[in-house]
This record gives sequence, C-alpha cells and structure tokens, in this order.
Amino acid sequence: MCGIVGYIGRRNALPVIIDGLKRLEYRGYDSAGFTILNNDEKYLTYKKAGKVKDLEDSIDYNVYTGNIGIGHTRWATHGEPTDINAHPHFCMEGKIILVHNGIIENYKSIKTKLESEGYIFKTETDTEILANFINYNYKNTKDFVKAVQVSLAGVEGTYGIACLCRDEKDKIIAARKGSPLLLAVGDGEFIIASDASAVLNYTRNVIYLNDGEMAIITKNSHILKTIENKEINREIEVLDMVLDQIEKGGYEHFMLKEICEQPESIQNTFRGRINFTTGVAKLGGLEKVLPRLLEAKRFIITACGTAWHAGLIGEYLIEQFCRIPVEVEYASEFRYRRPIINKDDIVIAISQSGETADTLAALREAKKFGATTVGIVNVIGSSIAREVDAGTYIHAGPEIGVASTKAFTSQLMSLALITMMLAREKETLFSKTLIEMAQELKQIPDKIQRMIDRKEEYKHIAERFKNANNFYYLGRGVNFPVALEGALKLKEISYIHAEGYPAAEMKHGPIALIDENMPVIFIAPKDRTYDKIISNIEEVKSRKGIIIALANEEDDNIKNYADYILRVPRTLGIFAPILNIIPLQFLSYYIAVFRGNDVDKPRNLAKSVTVE
Ligand code: F6R
Repeated sequence: MCGIVGYIGRRNALPVIIDGLKRLEYRGYDSAGFTILNNDEKYLTYKKAGKVKDLEDSIDYNVYTGNIGIGHTRWATHGEPTDINAHPHFCMEGKIILVHNGIIENYKSIKTKLESEGYIFKTETDTEILANFINYNYKNTKDFVKAVQVSLAGVEGTYGIACLCRDEKDKIIAARKGSPLLLAVGDGEFIIASDASAVLNYTRNVIYLNDGEMAIITKNSHILKTIENKEINREIEVLDMVLDQIEKGGYEHFMLKEICEQPESIQNTFRGRINFTTGVAKLGGLEKVLPRLLEAKRFIITACGTAWHAGLIGEYLIEQFCRIPVEVEYASEFRYRRPIINKDDIVIAISQSGETADTLAALREAKKFGATTVGIVNVIGSSIAREVDAGTYIHAGPEIGVASTKAFTSQLMSLALITMMLAREKETLFSKTLIEMAQELKQIPDKIQRMIDRKEEYKHIAERFKNANNFYYLGRGVNFPVALEGALKLKEISYIHAEGYPAAEMKHGPIALIDENMPVIFIAPKDRTYDKIISNIEEVKSRKGIIIALANEEDDNIKNYADYILRVPRTLGIFAPILNIIPLQFLSYYIAVFRGNDVDKPRNLAKSVTVE
C-alpha cells in the first residue's frame, strides 16, 4: 500500500513527482504530499488529506523550482488519513525527511527508546518514528548512509522508503524490505518509485531493488548496497511496457477499460502457449518443474481476494481433469495455522501484483518446508515472481483499476492451460477432448467481445438495481467461485452488501433473508447442474425473491423463471467462469457509476496490499 516517488535530475522535480503519484494512486489515495529541495536550498513541503488531484489543485507549481524531491500517496495503516499524518514526515529537528510504504512493527519499542532520549512526536504514524530513529543514528554516525543502515537494521516489519537529509542535500536514499521499489535510470536523472507506471513517461531503464537493499542516488551517480553495506552490481533492465497500456485511452474509468480489454488480455495469456490443432498446451516457465508437478501428491493454491477465487476455480479444474488433489488456502490464514506441507507438495501462489504481503509470506512458509513453489503472476519482476521456483506470467498487462477484472480472467486462462498441460501428460483426458478444448479456447476472445457489445443490456439491469441494499449471488460447481467473485466486485465498488453462496446451500439458512426486496443473481449456464439450479431458482421465486439469471444466449426456457436475464455465450465447463464473470463485472461497474462512486478508487481499498 502507499505509493512512493523520488526524483533527482535536471528537470523540475515536482511535475515528475505529481505525475508519478497520480499513476501510483491505485496503491492508496487517502492523503498525499511531497517535499522539494528548492533552488535556494530550502525544503518546501506540502501535504494534505484527500487525493493527489486535491493536492495538485491547491499548489502553485511556480513556487517549487528544485530538482530534488520525494512524494507519497497514502493508504493509512497507523493514524487516520489527516493532513498531519500525510507523508513526508520529519524528525523532530527537521533534519531527516521521509516517505514510507509499509509497517514498522516494533514502532512502540523504538518510540519508547527515543522518548527516553527526549524525542517528541507530532503524529500518530510509525513513519515519524522511523524519521526520528534515523536522526538519532545520524547523531552517532554523522553519515546519512550509515544512519539509514543502522536504523533499518533495527526495524522489524516492512518498508519501502525514500529519504532526504538536510546535512547531505545532494542525495536521496531509498531502501526496501517487503514493499516494492525500483530505481529508474534516465538521461541525467533518476526516479525512485513503487512501480514502473510512475517512471515510464521518462525512461524504460530500471533496476528492481530486492529486500534488504538500498539505493544511494545523486545527480550523477547511483550506488546499490545491502543494508549491511555490501556493494551490489546489478544490470539495468529494459521494461517491455508502453505508457499507452497504463492510460485510460478514452474510457471513463480504468475499470471499464480493463473489462473491455479482456478479449485482448486473454489472448495475450494463451498466445504461443497452445497448439489449436493438437491441443498441446505448453507453459515454458513451468517446464523445469514439470516432473515434480506430475509426481506431486497434492497441490496447495494460496492467494487473497479475487486471486483466491481464481484458485477455487483452479481446484475444480485440476481435480476434475487432472485427478490431482488440490487445497485452496487464504494466504492470510495459511501460515498461522501450522500447515502440514511436505517436500512433494506443490504450492501455487496466485497474485496480480506479485506483492501481496500475505501471499508472499505464505510462499516463504512453503519454501521453508521444501515444497516446490509456482507463481501465477501478472506484474513482471515482482517479489512473488522472483521468489518462486517456477512460474507463469498471465500477461494481462498493467491493471490499474482497484477492482481486479482482466487479471482474474487471465488467471483463469492460465489455470485452464496448466490443467490442459497436466491432463495431457498424465493422460487423464483424451487427446480428442484436448483438441476440442483448444478449439473452444480460440473462440473465447470473440465470445467475450460479444458480451462487451451487449454492455448496454447489462447497464439497463444495473440501473434497475442501483438502489438495492443487498444482493445474493448463487452458482453451482465451477460457478460457485464466480458467484463469490461477482459478490466481491459489487461490494468493493458499489458498497452494497452482497454474498456469494453455492446455490444449494441457500436452504440451509440464507433463504431466511429472501423477500420481495432481495435481488438474487443465479449463474445458470446450460451445464450438468442446470436442472438443479432451476430448482434453486424456484425455491427463491416462491419466496418472492427477484430473480436475475445469468443464462446462455440460446436458453429460452430461462424466461419462464427469471425476472431479468444477463445473457452469456455458451462454452465448455473449463472456460465457463471466464465468460460468466464478464456480465457481473459490468453489473458492478454500472451500479457503482449510477451511485456516483469513484469506481477506480473505491473507499478504504488499495490495489496492492503489501501489509499484513
Ligand atoms: C479485488 C481485488 C483484491 C485482490 C487481492 C489480491 O478486486 O483486487 O481482492 O485480488 O488483494 O491481490 P493480488 O492478486 O495482487 O495478490
């Protein structure tokens, strides 16, 4: 959570910092701020509760003339989102200026120690404590780099920081442990940022910092070191990404753009990985662990939120088609319950950002027990991608909207490809079936496009339900996790209470809530559970619930039961969740828009949850 930008170079620092903060705002947007070292050698700081736009609207760019500065957009962990708690933070003497992403877990003991030395604190943040701790160590070391190193060695928790020092005005020091940070190397300029979107406007040359590493940058140089002061040599990587991919491109919101990008993002997931004639799926990144995957007694999938829902669908696919037992674990629960992990287990981490703290921690736990770890990740070069034994990138492209959409469908496509690859190797599916699957897979992008072309229909239903207070989402089999994901999407951006259930579970309790005000979305494609789901619809209908059925385009029968219909193209079960989620994404999106909500920046959320 939180976005960091630091600039040092030949341009005015502030426009670069504000531009970067706007692009990082998906990471947190409850307050923002910056400090610029002006040309008269004075530091100017401005910070404010609210979004980066509010900050920008209340400043005069002409006042900020310097070309060194740091900035921050915040998602509050310690202390409310107020002006005073916004970053940057200063030490008591004003010598150390700091922006920080992460949580200092031992902040209390550091604070107590500093208070006994006469330090006084103005804010409720752990960041102010760290700024003072660096100042305290600076007094002893008289060296900015050493002071940061000594301080960070005494810190428990996570951090990505960018730091200035009044006594060594020519540098920015950045460091990371558990929170992503990269150094962009431009022509006579450097940018520190939480991710690549903040730097692409200026350069594609970057160096990713690893945990326990720091960058010391001046106008003419950059030095990489570990916190223990060992020098590091690292090649510059050239980002394979263009700015277009992270801009709105005429859409009103990133979320809408990303929903509509799915024909293309799905294609990018399977491109070059499937032979449509032979049905052979090949995922290069998994090849080196393929023998271990085939011998495994068990797969454990671990993830959070939407990625966890993808994992649940993965369980259906891998168990059904590959006959490998699969368990799906909330990453946040997994490591705290002393899980039984064996050397021949495969632990698969699914993560869009590749930075989710809980997923990363679950992965590390699995590694400790010697399991083989596999990543299904979107962000290239992210922590999870780098730490797994093997993995596959989903290639969905940058996902900026806080509510995950295209990453979800690409995660599902990756899981379908893995399923096809393993089923062929294990001979649990006939090659004829695999060819049928491959042929169907080819049509998935067009089928998604068909739904995008129907979006006005979905919008119409959204308008009808924009004032609802509750929603149920019900599905069976592989569509049960789709129901969970549909409900999560609605909650996140419309703030309407919604719950997903397996349709048959209704009568074990939740049906008590059904009355004439309760809209119930049934995911009812023509598959082998169709007749059962029709019975479940009858149960709700007879209690006056409002039926919204997600049904196949050619299903006329559904008109006898449903008050409203969300039409979807028909496909094979292995790909059905990829199609069925699309109308639900649109429904949530339009309901949120009708309610006047900020779809791309829903309240209380952040895109990448890098704190526990
Ligand atoms: C929901 C959403 C979150 C994320 C979750 C995991 O729309 O975006 O539930 O899915 O925070 O994030 P990643 O996939 O980055 O690990």
